[in-house]
Amino acid sequence: MASIPEDILPERIRARLTTRMIGCALTVVSEIGSTNEAAMAAGHAGAPEGLCLLADRQTSGRGRLNRTWSSLPGLGVYTSILLRPAVPPDRAPILTLMAGCAVVEAIRTVAAVQPQLKWPNDVLLEGKKVAGILTEMATLGSRVSHVVVGIGINVNHRATDFPPEVRATATSLALAGGRPVDRGEVILALYGALERWYRLHGSDGAAMILESARRAMATLGRDVVVQSPGAAWQGKAVDLDQDGALLVRDATGTVQRVIADDVSIREGTRS
Ligand code: BTN
Repeated sequence: MASIPEDILPERIRARLTTRMIGCALTVVSEIGSTNEAAMAAGHAGAPEGLCLLADRQTSGRGRLNRTWSSLPGLGVYTSILLRPAVPPDRAPILTLMAGCAVVEAIRTVAAVQPQLKWPNDVLLEGKKVAGILTEMATLGSRVSHVVVGIGINVNHRATDFPPEVRATATSLALAGGRPVDRGEVILALYGALERWYRLHGSDGAAMILESARRAMATLGRDVVVQSPGAAWQGKAVDLDQDGALLVRDATGTVQRVIADDVSIREGTRS
């Protein structure tokens, strides 16, 4: 089994972590199938809120809509955080936007670049994807048992480190910022930002999360293509709804709520 690289050694991270809840339990491994899969299992087994799993490499890293998340060793941050929010299941989707706000803040802190969000779960730098968020939820009757927020950040990738099919649309903090970035710093900034944003979420801060997400959201004001089951349609993304759904005005002028479909921005469009 490969050893854990110096920059993500658990003792190094624990020594500098200033959070109370996020990272209260931290497991770092050199290799895992998917940190999300393991964190969901830990949630079912009763692990505490705030548990963080971090891997140097994933062999089955997964993304939204059954996509894969390339997770080469030494290059990226691959982490999953276990949350137990006291909200009904229909209020959990805003946690993806909450995590998006935290990733944007963390990236700004460590790399002095200006990330944007692409609804619902992508973080972009100069229009290319630098990070992705995969939120998964388990319910118990009518309430949330646990939520896992999985975050993948491309940190020190060169263009050739990405799979050919995403090479033109992916970037990393090092590529965009022009210098290598310490993954330990990214993780500390991320866990710190997540703790602040999650506290806000718990103290009725949904309006602030929405406001911050609106400001960072590259999707708003743009013409988009929505891939609904069986049909693609076009419209203009006009706003975020209270629960984080994307509001898209279609060709007839009707504003539709988009909850789970794939949304792509049509380049060259801005209102
Ligand atoms: C996406 O862009 O569709 C979401 C990508 C999420 C990737 C992260 S990496 C850590 C965690 N474990 C996984 O298997 N996926 C998430």
